[in-house]
Amino acid sequence: MTDNTPKVAVCPGSYDPVTNGHLDIITRASRTFDKVVVGVVNQPIRKKKTLFSAEERIAFIEDATSHLGNVEVQAFYTLLVEFARDNGARAIVKGLRAISDFEYENEMAQLNSKLDSEIESIYVFARPEYSFLSSTGVKEMATFNGDVSDLVPAPVAAALADRLGRS
Ligand code: PNS
Repeated sequence: MTDNTPKVAVCPGSYDPVTNGHLDIITRASRTFDKVVVGVVNQPIRKKKTLFSAEERIAFIEDATSHLGNVEVQAFYTLLVEFARDNGARAIVKGLRAISDFEYENEMAQLNSKLDSEIESIYVFARPEYSFLSSTGVKEMATFNGDVSDLVPAPVAAALADRLGRS
């Protein structure tokens, strides 16, 4: 029997702010799944306060993905597996950059599987040119007026300079 249910994936994250590495993973997921829901966590538990509000983080991603017809962006306030279930998603898709990501992502994947074994965590290897790229690194560069223009979308680079740049 053919299963005609649309294949939906969620791409969760803090996205504070979104980088070109995140956008590469979202784009690649959008080619593999019928629909991708980017889940922007409202306030990450394991991190200090975000630089950008959830509304700002969502607007940056919406702007950068507007050309992709099957991607939508939502804030979420719940467990990730609940957010996935609410959106009819059976897959959580995340990027993996280096071995240093593995420990944290392995824990996340195991916890999510314990909470809902029907939802599969799928990891996509970051492209080499993005394997060093993180939101934290970009914020640090912007703080010291470093050039981040080829690491994040233009509106994000402008917002970072505005909020963090030292005159
Ligand atoms: O970009 P990040 O900061 O690595 O993303 C972390 C995120 C949003 C994936 C994670 O904090 C998350 O899933 N938060 C929701 C709460 C949850 O379900 N945690 C995992 C199981 S306890």
